[in-house]
Amino acid sequence: MKVIVTGGAGFIGSKLVKHLSGSNEVVVLDNLHSGSINNLQGTKARFVHMDAKAEVIEDDLSSAHHAHVPQIEQWGLESHAGR
Ligand SMILES: NC(=O)c1ccc[n+]([C@@H]2O[C@H](COP(=O)([O-])OP(=O)(O)OC[C@H]3O[C@@H](n4cnc5c(N)ncnc54)[C@H](O)[C@@H]3O)[C@@H](O)[C@H]2O)c1
Repeated sequence: MKVIVTGGAGFIGSKLVKHLSGSNEVVVLDNLHSGSINNLQGTKARFVHMDAKAEVIEDDLSSAHHAHVPQIEQWGLESHAGR
């Protein structure tokens, strides 16, 4: 299955990517505001450096629909816990 994970280079997102990437085609959309590409080491996920703001995601959802992407995980949100 193809899965898009926004914020996939972050704390929670990268753990989800590691979990999913073994048996799925995973694409990570992340602007690296607080995440790190190092968090994706050891995964086969494709990384796309981009700002996944709501309006962009709406477009992506539309194109993802046409590309038959059944699952989109959104973890690309600001986190203030502990910062
Ligand atoms: N960590 C926790 O214990 C916890 C618990 C409950 C809820 N949450 C929530 O889950 C979400 C993720 O938490 P986290 O700890 O993984 O945070 P994180 O900061 O480690 O990860 C967020 C990721 O999103 C990316 N990002 C932020 N804005 C983006 C944008 N506009 N476009 C693309 N990428 C963007 C960052 O670069 C980062 O990689 C947050 O909303 C947080 O409040 C976290």
